[in-house]
Amino acid sequence: MNNFISLNFKVWRQIDSKSKGYFEYFTLEKVSLNISLLEALDQLNENLITKNIRPITFDHDCREGICGSCGFLINGQPHGPKKGTTSCQLYIRNFKDNALITLEPWRVKSFPVIQDLMVDRNSLDKLIISGGYLNTGTGDSPDANSIPISPEKAFSSFETATCIGCGACVAGCRNSSSSLFIAAKLAHLGQLPQGISSKKERSKRMRNQMAIEGFGQCSNNLECEAVCPKEISADWISWMNKI
Ligand code: FES
Repeated sequence: MNNFISLNFKVWRQIDSKSKGYFEYFTLEKVSLNISLLEALDQLNENLITKNIRPITFDHDCREGICGSCGFLINGQPHGPKKGTTSCQLYIRNFKDNALITLEPWRVKSFPVIQDLMVDRNSLDKLIISGGYLNTGTGDSPDANSIPISPEKAFSSFETATCIGCGACVAGCRNSSSSLFIAAKLAHLGQLPQGISSKKERSKRMRNQMAIEGFGQCSNNLECEAVCPKEISADWISWMNKI
């Protein structure tokens, strides 16, 4: 079996947020089926550098689906065609020989393009600063397990704690709403004993900040849930709306 394929890339190129962007085409030969898409981009960038062409800028860090740094549109879909998968965990074996792969940055006003596929997601940090934390006085460090939390609540809180803040939910939403992101952050802490008393106030602040940062409102299209690499349920938006 041939473990190598050729790929064609149509990549968004933009020097900075003020410049006009355009698509550029590249072909990459001998791409192993066993490498990730980001590793294929590394391979492509090495070729470009050898030819004195500016390499493609894209964001990444852990490459393990944990940090949320990676993320762009792959064939029009946030993080690409594989459900529950980040861009960095998407492997070349998911593509056919000679496939055309279109790569674009998140198309969201609140995420201005830094360069090519890399966007500035500082607006998500501002949402966290507005209320995605706990400031409840908890005294000295308690002994382990001295605050009783049922396994159901712990698992439920953990489900939302898996949000990696990649911004795919915003990029997938036709309104560029960050509702699933703030719902996940509120539900993560707001279900635990330490977070219950402040969740109403934090919800108000995060919603206000959402408008300030230019994110849209939720209109229940559920695309956020479909594209979330951690498969966080949009039911958490309903949970947030009842706070
Ligand atoms: S690089 Fe960390 S989640 Fe993809």
